[in-house]
Amino acid sequence: MHMDRAQIKAGIMVSTRFQLFLPLILLPVIGTQAIDMLNCLDAFPNTTILNSTYLKNVNGVLSSLISSNNSNGYGFYSSAYGENSDKVYAIGLCRGDLKHDACVTCLNASRYDLMEVCPNDREASLWTEKCKLRYSNHSMHGTVELIPSSTRYSNKNVSSSLSVLEGFNQRLMALLGVLKVEVAAGGDVVKFAVGNANVSIYSKNISTIYGLAQCSPDLSELGCNNCLDEALEKIQMYCYGSGFGSYVNPSCDLYYQVDYLFFDPAAQTVPVALPPLISPPTANARGKKSNIPQTLIVIFVSILLPFIVML
Ligand SMILES: *[C@@H]1O[C@H](CO)[C@@H](O)[C@H](O)[C@H]1NC(C)=O
Ligand SMILES: *[C@@H]1O[C@H](CO)[C@@H](O)[C@H](O)[C@H]1NC(C)=O
Ligand SMILES: *[C@@H]1O[C@H](CO)[C@@H](O)[C@H](O)[C@H]1NC(C)=O
Ligand SMILES: *[C@@H]1O[C@H](CO)[C@@H](O)[C@H](O)[C@H]1NC(C)=O
Ligand SMILES: *[C@@H]1O[C@H](CO)[C@@H](O)[C@H](O)[C@H]1NC(C)=O
Ligand SMILES: *[C@@H]1O[C@H](CO)[C@@H](O)[C@H](O)[C@H]1NC(C)=O
Ligand SMILES: *[C@@H]1O[C@H](CO)[C@@H](O)[C@H](O)[C@H]1NC(C)=O
Ligand SMILES: *[C@@H]1O[C@H](CO)[C@@H](O)[C@H](O)[C@H]1NC(C)=O
Repeated sequence: MHMDRAQIKAGIMVSTRFQLFLPLILLPVIGTQAIDMLNCLDAFPNTTILNSTYLKNVNGVLSSLISSNNSNGYGFYSSAYGENSDKVYAIGLCRGDLKHDACVTCLNASRYDLMEVCPNDREASLWTEKCKLRYSNHSMHGTVELIPSSTRYSNKNVSSSLSVLEGFNQRLMALLGVLKVEVAAGGDVVKFAVGNANVSIYSKNISTIYGLAQCSPDLSELGCNNCLDEALEKIQMYCYGSGFGSYVNPSCDLYYQVDYLFFDPAAQTVPVALPPLISPPTANARGKKSNIPQTLIVIFVSILLPFIVML
């Protein structure tokens, strides 16, 4: 199967706008995985005319990437293969709460999916909710890449009251802002944090916003900050009032969801105080590496339907 860029774009628009109503259909499933983003760049028009050494190297770098030699031990894989203008660079990154085995499985599946969908491209990237894989003819190490990106949100608000929405949004952005700072300061090995904050959106009931933020650990603190600033801006712009939201690009990602713990609850807790707001205060940020169920996508997606009904 080969998707061209127009098809891929259409798929993302569909998934962004109508995810709540057709959650299982929208993420294109390729191989065994639900794909959030696929991007094939600069396809060689005719591989028999152009030098095929590059394409062999793409296969080489992707095949060897998941070797532990290329891992930093925390779900980040980086490698290069080939010489001179035929050299191919690849980076793989798992979500920070993924176990090692699940991480390898995700990157391995992504490798096959990427080679199937982008069979003769100079650059390509693919990500799911669990891991990201990309390759290019230039080194990507330490570079903030904002394109391509995917943004998801519900087209239903958590409340019809403007003041409730405003309070919710303030709380959400405060939580995500705390996570951003935490992640950016995370060091060279892991840049990942999860946290939660309570908010009152359904009359007197307390709801909990769960948030997750991550940067590729090869980014500098400044690069990570810049990337997550872009993420916060997109979340603010598109996810206002939405009960869930996500923004993902090759370098960083930001997820949140109300009343659904979508990350591994065993993650270490780093208490962080949010500024006081209308809603019940205090939040926890959690950091570092741990585990998430293998069935994350299924769970994440299937809870959306009951979630709509609740709204
Ligand atoms: C690719 O180039 C070869 C050699 O010139 C030619 O025979 C073949 O028809 C071309 N294929 C396509 C799809 O253009
Ligand atoms: C094709 O690849 C070989 C081996 O890497 C290289 O020596 C040669 O210059 C390449 N040819 C072109 C046209 O890029
Ligand atoms: C990993 O590194 C070791 C030691 O440098 C080497 O013997 C082994 O072949 C490498 N494995 C891979 C898959 O590159
Ligand atoms: C990678 O996927 C292929 C094809 O599904 C499978 O044969 C292979 O065992 C997998 N490798 C790892 C390390 O999971
Ligand atoms: C990567 O490929 C593009 C498109 O052919 C080319 O313009 C660029 O110079 C290449 N970059 C490197 C580092 O080879
Ligand atoms: C959500 O609330 C905002 C602010 O009132 C409004 O602009 C927007 O249209 C609402 N969205 C939906 C899908 O109702
Ligand atoms: C939330 O509020 C509704 C009505 O306001 C009430 O029926 C329900 O029991 C409350 N749930 C919790 C968990 O307090
Ligand atoms: C959110 O509220 C629940 C129930 O009142 C409480 O157990 C939890 O500790 C609160 N979480 C935070 C971050 O304040």
